[in-house]
Amino acid sequence: MSSQIHIPISERHSEKPVFSPEKMAEVQRVISEYPEGKSKSAVIRILHFAEDEFGGWLSIETMDYVAEILNIEPIEVYEVATFYTMFNVEPIGKYVFEVCRTGPCMLVGSDNIIEYIENKLDVKVGETTKDKMFTLKTAECLGACGYGPMLQCGKKYHEHLTKEKVDTLIDAYRAGNTNIEI
Ligand code: FES
Repeated sequence: MSSQIHIPISERHSEKPVFSPEKMAEVQRVISEYPEGKSKSAVIRILHFAEDEFGGWLSIETMDYVAEILNIEPIEVYEVATFYTMFNVEPIGKYVFEVCRTGPCMLVGSDNIIEYIENKLDVKVGETTKDKMFTLKTAECLGACGYGPMLQCGKKYHEHLTKEKVDTLIDAYRAGNTNIEI
């Protein structure tokens, strides 16, 4: 059986990404926590730094840069970045809605919530709205199984979702109210 990693390349960083000196010092500190020759173990932490530093997503150039820093093959970075849904390998909107689609949430209607958001925002899962405001993703269990259907946006969880709550949520984020409690 052959496996194939698909990395969208429709958008690229025009210049080679380079960490700021401050961030690079942090990167080197993290790498130094691992034994010599085991820098690959730092890949997830460095990818988080890279996402934060380079626009919230990981381009091919960014992943190649991380591979160079860790002295590993680019494919070793691509594998990690494309495996975990928390990493974005395409440009994202200002807000990323990650709706849990695992069993317990599905039993209480996550499918309906996903479909409702798709229709409301006129996007499919994995897409970003034309105004670059929202990206819709799905995720596996986010550890809030008793509170489904639920979604994560940034560091916030929004739980027991209904269509009405989704309306309120989207209006609030559009208005810049990211502190909304739902
Ligand atoms: S199944 Fe949805 S948070 Fe666990």
